[in-house]
Amino acid sequence: MSIETLTDRNHSVQQDFLPLEGTDYVEFYVGNAKQAAHYYKTAFGFQSLAYAGPETGVKDRASYVLQQNKLTFVFTTPLRSRNPVADHIYKHGDGIKVLALRVDDATDAWEQTTLCGAKSYMQPVTLTDEHGTVVMSGIHTYGDTVHVFVERKNYQGVFMPGYQPWKPNYAPTETGLQYVDHCVGNVGWNQMNKWVKFYEEVMGFKNILSFDDNDISTEYSALMSKVMSNGNGYVKFPINEPAEGKKKSQVEEYLDFYDGEGCQHVALATHDIVATVTDLRDRGVEFLKVPSSYYDDLFSRVGKIEEDIQPLKELGILVDRDEEGYLLQIFTKPVEDRPTLFFEIIQRKGAKSFGKGNFKALFEAIEREQALRGNL
Ligand code: FE2
Repeated sequence: MSIETLTDRNHSVQQDFLPLEGTDYVEFYVGNAKQAAHYYKTAFGFQSLAYAGPETGVKDRASYVLQQNKLTFVFTTPLRSRNPVADHIYKHGDGIKVLALRVDDATDAWEQTTLCGAKSYMQPVTLTDEHGTVVMSGIHTYGDTVHVFVERKNYQGVFMPGYQPWKPNYAPTETGLQYVDHCVGNVGWNQMNKWVKFYEEVMGFKNILSFDDNDISTEYSALMSKVMSNGNGYVKFPINEPAEGKKKSQVEEYLDFYDGEGCQHVALATHDIVATVTDLRDRGVEFLKVPSSYYDDLFSRVGKIEEDIQPLKELGILVDRDEEGYLLQIFTKPVEDRPTLFFEIIQRKGAKSFGKGNFKALFEAIEREQALRGNL
């Protein structure tokens, strides 16, 4: 520890009373977990890791755990109606229930956050099997979404107690997806600052970037966004709320169809966006397209980049630059029939921002899709 951090100790302790080691897993509640797992393997290149269900002693649900590098996705479906998982799907359709965060001490994380006003979702529980111990706890965040704190430093099994290794014959290759870069939440009208305050006060996050409706508006619609980050920057949660425009904001469309607040998109990082997106496209993942005129003035907007422009243009990959470097990004269409959750694929080359220069082109692309659905 340097002298600087020592003298600044009280401040940093106060700032990071909830040290997070990153995203542990993302859990989706879906109508058919067996088929969803197949889709994420086939289309996104996830690998089979673990399974829990009636065969492992879980009576009310089945869960499939998939992994790709540092990404862990869990797909859970209810086996009967009239239980919390079934109710979640009835209301929201397929969507994200849990944004799980890895911590050193899940009991302390729960105590600290509930002391600061978080509503408890799960009191600390200790799960043990022959591979060791996992401690979990959880709190509510926006909508029906929750954060689960996972302490797995004393566990050597494949995922956690209750799960068995899942090794089917079918194992498509990976697509180069690496880790969760950020997860965006859509919240209701005038609710953004409430949730900014929640992440500040309950979880010790800082607001690192803000976008108002002047930054994020097209001819027709607008939204506002604030990016919340934890102390070490491993966990970033931008929060969006709709803003008044001539027509319906994309955030409003989400809130209508998700029937409430929830996770809008998860950004997945890659080290080679051209290779990853080519692969994803060939496997059937559908992406938003910007007009080819977007590329006409690309170099004058972003300066010199290492990539050839042709594949970027062909795939529809967007580029933006900030003071520290540039980033490449592209957005999928919603991955279910409701216009709700989608994914972003992102490659950072120094840039720590979120592609502000692309917002207009991107949101116009979203609006074209909204108009096709009759929801603009
Ligand atoms: Fe994003």
